[in-house]
Amino acid sequence: MRENRHVAALKADLLFTGARLATMAGRAGLGVVEDAVVAVADGRIAWAGARGEAPPVDAAERFDCAGRWITPGLVDCHTHLVFAGNRADEFARRLAGESYADIARSGGGIAATVRATRAADEDALIAASLMRLDALLAEGVTTVEIKSGYGLDEATELRQLRVARQLAARRAVSVAATYLGAHAVPPGGDRAAYLDLVCERMIPRIAAEGLADAVDVFQEGIAFSAEECARVFAAAGTAGLRVKSHADQLSDGGGAALAAAHRALSADHLEYTNAEGAAAMVRAGTVAVLLPGATLMLKEERHPPVDAFRAAGTRMAVATDLNPGSSPIASLRVCGTLACVLFRMTVEEVLRGITIEAAHALGRADRIGSVEAGKDADLAVWSVETLSQLVAQIGPSPLFARFHQGVRA
Ligand code: NIG
Ligand code: FE
Repeated sequence: MRENRHVAALKADLLFTGARLATMAGRAGLGVVEDAVVAVADGRIAWAGARGEAPPVDAAERFDCAGRWITPGLVDCHTHLVFAGNRADEFARRLAGESYADIARSGGGIAATVRATRAADEDALIAASLMRLDALLAEGVTTVEIKSGYGLDEATELRQLRVARQLAARRAVSVAATYLGAHAVPPGGDRAAYLDLVCERMIPRIAAEGLADAVDVFQEGIAFSAEECARVFAAAGTAGLRVKSHADQLSDGGGAALAAAHRALSADHLEYTNAEGAAAMVRAGTVAVLLPGATLMLKEERHPPVDAFRAAGTRMAVATDLNPGSSPIASLRVCGTLACVLFRMTVEEVLRGITIEAAHALGRADRIGSVEAGKDADLAVWSVETLSQLVAQIGPSPLFARFHQGVRA
C-alpha cells in the first residue's frame, strides 16, 4: 500500500482493507493484526498483514471492512450431517432416564437413523442435509467434514458419500468426506461378515473411487472393539487413507492410544481418555477433537482431560458432531460456547479449535485454517467489537460476509 514506484505492484483480484485480523498463524495465540489488509489472487491469499508493511497492491476490487474482524473461515471437522429422519423421541426417552447405550441396545440410536437413511433417496438426503449445512455456513463455516455411517450397507454408504460430494457442488464450501462404515453393526447383520465387507470391499472401493478422504470408526462397547478397529485402520492404511476414531466416548477403551498407534489424524470425543492415551496422541500428532454438544445432550458428567492435553501440548479442536442423536446441534459457535463452559477451554483455544486446529484434524492445515499467504482465501468477516463475542453469546450470527476461495458466498 505504500507509495513505492520501484517495486512491482502485487496483482490481486480482491483486497480487504480496514480490517482487524486474527490470522491463527503459529502454534498458539490468535495472531492479531490491527489495521490489516488481505490480498487475494486466484482464490488464494496472496498477502496478509499490517497495512504499514504491505507491498503495493494493484487490486481489481476492494472490500472495506470498516474496522470489522476477519478470521479464517470456520472449519467444522466432525459432523454426521447427511442423514434422514430425526430422533427427538430419544431425547424424551433420555430425559425419562434411559441412557444412550440402552436406547442403542434396544434397536434405537444409530440403527433408527440407518432405517430412515436407507429409505431416503439421494434427492431427499440432499434436501435434508442442505438445511443443516446452510445453518453452519450462516455462521462462517467454509470447510465441513461429513461422515457416512448411517447406511451400513454398500448402496447407502456410497449414497451418503456421494451426497457429501454433491453438497460441495451446491454450496460454496469445501467438504472432507469420511467413510464411517464401522459406526455400528447393521441391524440384523452378522458382525464378522460386516467387517469383511468394510475392510475388504468398501474401503478399497471408496479409496479407488476417491469418495472419501479418511476412514473413521466408533470404538466402544456398543460398537466395535479395539481389535476390530485395528483391522479397519489397517485396511485404510493399505488403501492409502488416513484414519480417525470415535474414541473413549462412553468408557475408557484405550481408544486414544489405538488411534495414535495408527497415526490417526484425530481422536474424537475422548471423555474417558487416560493420561497414557493423551501422551500417545501428542507423540503421534493426533489431534484431540472435542465434541461438547454430545457431552451436553447425553448429560455426560465425565469430561475430556483438557488439562492433560494442554500440559502435553496436544492440539485441541472443537466440532459440532452434528448428528440426529447425541448432538443435534447445527451451530459450531454454540459448540464453541459449550467447550468453554463445560470443558473450561479458553476463548482463544476454542477460536483456534474451530479454525487452525480443526484444519489439522482434517490433515488440511497446509491449505486452510489460517490467514496466511498461499492458503485458500476462505475468510469470515464479523460484525463484532471483540472476537470473544463469537463464543460469549448465543443468538443471531454476527457474520457479516463469508468468502470461499476468494469468492463472496
Ligand atoms: O459421534 N459416537 C458415535 N456416533 C455419533 C452419534 C451417532 C448417533 O447417535 O446417531 C457421535 O456421537
Ligand atoms: Fe461423531
